[in-house]
Amino acid sequence: MAFSSPDSSTSDDPADGEALQQAVLKNLWIPTMNWSELAEDGARIFTEGQGTKIKDADGVWRYDASAGLMLVNVGHGRQEIVDAIADQLSRLHYVNTFQYSTPNVIRFAEKLAALTPGDLNRVQFLSGGSEAVETALKIAYQYHVNRGEPGRTKFIARQDSYHGVSRGALSVGSAGVLARERFEPVLPDNVRFAPQPLLYHDDASTTQEENDVRCAKAIEAIILAEGPETFAGVIGEPVSFSAGVAVPGDHYWPMVREICDKYGLLLIADEVITGFGRTGKWFAMEHWGVTPDLMTCAKGITSGYWPTGACIATDRVFAEFQGGPETTFPHGFTYGAHPAGGAAGLANVAIMEREDLPGNSARMGAYMLDRLNGLRSHPIVGDVRGIGLMCVVELVKDKRTKEPFTAFSGAGKMLKDHLAEGGMLTRAGGNFVFLAPPLTVTKQEVDEMVDMVDASIGYVESRLGF
Ligand SMILES: Cc1ncc(COP(=O)(O)O)c(C=O)c1O
Repeated sequence: MAFSSPDSSTSDDPADGEALQQAVLKNLWIPTMNWSELAEDGARIFTEGQGTKIKDADGVWRYDASAGLMLVNVGHGRQEIVDAIADQLSRLHYVNTFQYSTPNVIRFAEKLAALTPGDLNRVQFLSGGSEAVETALKIAYQYHVNRGEPGRTKFIARQDSYHGVSRGALSVGSAGVLARERFEPVLPDNVRFAPQPLLYHDDASTTQEENDVRCAKAIEAIILAEGPETFAGVIGEPVSFSAGVAVPGDHYWPMVREICDKYGLLLIADEVITGFGRTGKWFAMEHWGVTPDLMTCAKGITSGYWPTGACIATDRVFAEFQGGPETTFPHGFTYGAHPAGGAAGLANVAIMEREDLPGNSARMGAYMLDRLNGLRSHPIVGDVRGIGLMCVVELVKDKRTKEPFTAFSGAGKMLKDHLAEGGMLTRAGGNFVFLAPPLTVTKQEVDEMVDMVDASIGYVESRLGF
């Protein structure tokens, strides 16, 4: 194993570990875990974090190579965020957030208005990403009602995108283990799906530009087929993580922006993962110089130190909610705009600015992508993609046909387990190995992580007879 421990802490009490395992099996519902697998393998339980690593209940430190759920952007163990939260909680821990506010929340809204592109100046705080997406969909819907166009009720989303698990957010998503299929009908008949801009899986295009144009035009075709007056908006992640880090080229987002403007749809950029430096800029839409009408954020907004999300609207959108009482937005979550979220967000963003973490994400991301490209010679590596510290290695059974491994081939689990044994925890499974570490990652840490992925892919190949 190629990395050194961040300190020499001793193991936690193993007897305690056994009791915790028993309690997990008896009382805890870890939602996406297969129960029989959990009973066989035992749960992974963690007790400490520092920088890019976390320590399990047996005292073993490993890389947290997906930054939790792609969100521990400033790294683990940041005492100054903990202190800011503690200070807020000890002075005033809560007020009625539907009617009042608190200084840290107000200052954080001001800060976000300054950081986000264009005139995204109006911030509603929530507790997480799904709530932010629900809020954005409802704002888009009511925006048109307030403008006298209540017939605009439908949304266009993209295949393989993911926007959260609540039923509205689920209705505009289509991907992965949290797939909507098991919950149909979600919001029946209100969502249409356009193709994801991902050249590797687009047999109809040979260049990124062709892929961009084809996917953007597909949105326009949907609008024209059913009538612009029936659509409220388009929602998409600037770079879809769930679709396998689908990085569009130069043309896609500017074209989608233009199409939305032409037909009166609002553009919702879901920056829940991509926001706060993950792609090498503060917000991913900056790569294309596009300002959405609504932006959803969560995850990196506080690096996970406090559950927080935000839905940010442009001045133009907010203007439609400034008429009489019937135009106000009847919406709110009890823990949205929690005072501690404001404190955590301000402290988190201060670290990101002071340490130029978006810049480090751009530099280390480019280096990581370059190193990962070196894995293309593996027989099962089909493609490597990334932007900033959001990279993926796509595994295939057959490079020529791009045939994926099935969920039952065991390749994903084999790889994930081998990586964990080698000292690295990351999102891997099915056909993707994701790398999205904290934005504080160093060159040496990137080298160690890529070497581990290299070794684990080699291990899977030898086990599967490639
Ligand atoms: C793009 C995107 N939107 C929304 C969500 C939902 O966020 P949450 O899990 O905080 O509800 C996620 C979560 O991974 C996400 O990746």
